[in-house]
Amino acid sequence: MKKTLTIVAFVFTFSVTVHAQGSNTKMKPFIDALMKKMTVEEKIGQLNLPGSGDIVTGQASNSDIGKKIREGKVGGLFNIKTVEKIRAVQKVAVEESRLKIPMIFGMDVIHGYETVFPIPLGLSCTWDMKAVERSARIAAMEASADGINWTFSPMVDIARDPRWGRIAEGSGEDVYLGSQIAKAMVKGYQGDDLSRNNTIMACVKHYAMYGAAEAGRDYNTTDMSRVRMYNEYLPPYKAAVDAGAGSVMASFNEVDGIPATANKFLMTDVLRKQWGFKGFVVTDYTGINEMIEHGIGDLKTVSAKALNAGIDMDMVGEGFLTTLTKSLQEGKVTTAQIDAACRLILEAKYKLGLFDDPYRYCDPNRSKTEIFTAANRKTAREIAAQSFVLLKNNGNVLPLKKSGTIALIGPLADTRENMPGTWSVAANFAKAISVRDGLQEAVGSNAKILYAKGSNLDADSAFEQRAGMFGKAFKRDSRTAQQIIDEAVAVANQSDVVVAALGESAEMTGESSSSTNIEIPQAQKDLLMALLKTGKPVVLVLFTGRPLALKWENDNVPAILNVWFGGSEAGSAIADVLFGDVNPSGKLSTTFPQNIGQVPIYYNHKNTGRPLAEGKWFQKFRSNYLDVSNDPLYPFGFGLSYTNFTYSAVELSRSSIKPTETLTASITVTNSGAVAGKEVVQLYIRDLVGSSTRPVKELKGFQKIELKAGESKKISFTVSVNDLKFYNYDLKYVAEPGDFKVFIGGNSRDTKEANFKLL
Ligand code: BGC
Repeated sequence: MKKTLTIVAFVFTFSVTVHAQGSNTKMKPFIDALMKKMTVEEKIGQLNLPGSGDIVTGQASNSDIGKKIREGKVGGLFNIKTVEKIRAVQKVAVEESRLKIPMIFGMDVIHGYETVFPIPLGLSCTWDMKAVERSARIAAMEASADGINWTFSPMVDIARDPRWGRIAEGSGEDVYLGSQIAKAMVKGYQGDDLSRNNTIMACVKHYAMYGAAEAGRDYNTTDMSRVRMYNEYLPPYKAAVDAGAGSVMASFNEVDGIPATANKFLMTDVLRKQWGFKGFVVTDYTGINEMIEHGIGDLKTVSAKALNAGIDMDMVGEGFLTTLTKSLQEGKVTTAQIDAACRLILEAKYKLGLFDDPYRYCDPNRSKTEIFTAANRKTAREIAAQSFVLLKNNGNVLPLKKSGTIALIGPLADTRENMPGTWSVAANFAKAISVRDGLQEAVGSNAKILYAKGSNLDADSAFEQRAGMFGKAFKRDSRTAQQIIDEAVAVANQSDVVVAALGESAEMTGESSSSTNIEIPQAQKDLLMALLKTGKPVVLVLFTGRPLALKWENDNVPAILNVWFGGSEAGSAIADVLFGDVNPSGKLSTTFPQNIGQVPIYYNHKNTGRPLAEGKWFQKFRSNYLDVSNDPLYPFGFGLSYTNFTYSAVELSRSSIKPTETLTASITVTNSGAVAGKEVVQLYIRDLVGSSTRPVKELKGFQKIELKAGESKKISFTVSVNDLKFYNYDLKYVAEPGDFKVFIGGNSRDTKEANFKLL
């Protein structure tokens, strides 16, 4: 390390000492001086972000990537891990390239590193911002201990369509909750000093509106009004930017007929001019090249368009690397644009402290002692338990007793590899805790756990192949479906209670996993029906990365615990909740529809001119369906507990406020059940009359509280004019005087309300 520091110091012969810690006054002259030495080609090289390719530690210098690095044609690498590998390749950059500029190292550290937390959709159901931040903090500590200093997270795309597989990667449908989570994640990753060796730079993605893909098909077109963008889709990206996120990733989709990657409105007008973003923008994987298929030009044209729009770094496709020099000669781009992009990349490296010490994140001791630690795993277990949502619990089937005989059945019951869920690129799959592991550990010798697989993931082996971690996690059982079910029924018949671990495999959601069927695969449903016929109480432990249509299950299964994909400790956390050691407190961050035809269905919709009368499910010439009511199966914000919470009436401290004033909305929440529990008290507002139509409810606050059995607490929210503002037709952010409603409750449907006026 000493040697390289000397080299770096030798190359940068300025009078200033290089200090990563904040000081922008030092950063500018440092980068000015460095850029003076750079050729145009070297500047363009900084904008290039290839994948890690063919690097082998011992021969990093001789690999194809190694050659490019030596020639100054690489700004950073991604999908590379371990201190040893990263150190080897960084060494090529800082010892063998002309200007010895260190590289940044990115990775998709999405919901944990080796210690995996719940998938983001599950994490959002904790409604616990401290837990969310903590998960990102631990992810950053582990990733940085393995050489990584940049994560492609948080993904803050609002999504209202469960067909879209990537709904699993975000925080659901709500703009307020999504914005809080965006902030917490950025804070968790970046801490308050990016140059510390255990913080990493965040990358907010996918900017923008990626979650509104038509028909829920990945990468598909999005098209919406500006008013909707500003009110319902853009705020979480802005929240992440306001929280100081160092980078932003452009999305694959088009917006207003221009792919985001060439969309100047998004990248420059909104991001830089309106929001004042100071970091750099990277494309998504081959995002520039894909604009050829979008149909807006050849590689040279689309690369120039991307730079013109405000893109700084090109992931994988090398459009910048191979065409920008030519475009510069032809006057299609300017030196100033290349300089500006290069400067932002260098600034990021400076802020990460890499000019001080290019091996800052390559401490072999940390990699041995700070990853997948017992303490991190304990936190992951606690957070996972908080992310589960109890959807049904008739007759208090749950919690289970740690005695008697429990039949654990289902294709997802004994699959460690399936527990972490999508985008778990660094997971320790072999050590993940399956449901079977977790239950067995919890009961010890006090109860008997019998296991049977019960079914394949799906009847169609081709589908199973596509959905089952590319075949890794699921060995197909070659017996007939009936034989597999019969075995499970025999096991169920010997038991006191059946725990059925069913649903989606990890790869059924995430990127490129859109689906038009959002029900539990038929083979598993057949199993469930057979288990119910035994007459034993059945608990459905549901794995999913999207809201599923569970009408039949809700009608027939006494208890349903939605466990998403809970991460490396999921099995232990599932046992914690099933046995009542932890009382479930998760609340849905997306609406669960009754059927796929209701999609998109979300709580903060508009009223229409022909809404249904309260309590009705069909009226002729009203906005509804012939075959299904407008109600969701489970509304946004919903989740049960092993106890009950009752809510008093809402009290307002005043019935009207001036724009400079605030009011307090209070409610008394009582734990009226027999055990302690946590409740998410939710505050919604409706603007009853606007210059534009306003949603029927909008989340504007929440508090997660804990109450002992029998305990009551008065919970207060402060409402200010800021909670009443929205983007009007002219995209002005305003609060309009008039009548408002405030609602408080334990979900978006069951609320108490009161009225007030803004004067
Ligand atoms: C995904 C991004 C991811 C990138 C790098 C892309 O396919 O859309 O979310 O960060 O790959 O792995």
